[in-house]
Amino acid sequence: MDIKIFNTTQELDAFAAELLVNTVKNKPNAILGLATGSTPLGIYAKMVEKYNNKEVSFAEVTTYNLDEYVGLQSDNDQSYAYYMNDNLFSHIDIPAEQTFLPNGMAGDLGAECAEYDQKLLKQQVDVQLLGLGHNGHIGFNEPDKELSGGTHVVKLKAETREANARFFASMDEVPELAITMGVGSILKAHTILLAARGADKAEIVKQALTGPITTEVPASLLQLHPRVIVLLDREAGRMLG
Ligand code: F6R
Repeated sequence: MDIKIFNTTQELDAFAAELLVNTVKNKPNAILGLATGSTPLGIYAKMVEKYNNKEVSFAEVTTYNLDEYVGLQSDNDQSYAYYMNDNLFSHIDIPAEQTFLPNGMAGDLGAECAEYDQKLLKQQVDVQLLGLGHNGHIGFNEPDKELSGGTHVVKLKAETREANARFFASMDEVPELAITMGVGSILKAHTILLAARGADKAEIVKQALTGPITTEVPASLLQLHPRVIVLLDREAGRMLG
């Protein structure tokens, strides 16, 4: 693992955006795996800045998002489809039909998961961006005795719903289910960019990067991947050696 610790979040964001944009410059039809949550916000803002500065075009890029809540319409401002449009897609030249997220409103969620996997199987994600949950989840792959390889419906852990309640009007509105790419699909990406910031992530960063490889800390499986770049701010990295 290539671990980079930045003095400021802004430096982390700039580095990640540069790496993603360079991927697209080198391969205009790159496939990017994208995440939501608070961690990527500054990264997406920098990518938009670079697009506005005419440094890059996303016209041929395809994106796959990690996850989506079950039961939220795409025009609900808490859905991940809304988040992606609001923070990235509507500000760049990527055609909507090249952006994929699982559909959490599908009538048959099992079929939706199988279809998402079919799409993912046809190609390799060039760079997969990941945030890190406080319990070590990646995507919405929650700690468990075993993990699914492919896209699946997951019951969110109480701690994940609590962590995400900050975005909703009340805890009751936080969905209980989500669709997530599986750990197998995540690990198939050519390069993985794991970003974490803030003192509250320091302990799980240490466990994920230096602890035993265990499904009880899903991010620890990233230790098995040959090309993981970990981007941390000083606070998130403060418990490492
Ligand atoms: C989001 C996702 C989650 C988040 C994680 C960290 O698509 O898959 O794994 O990356 O919950 O969230 P933040 O960045 O809000 O701390």
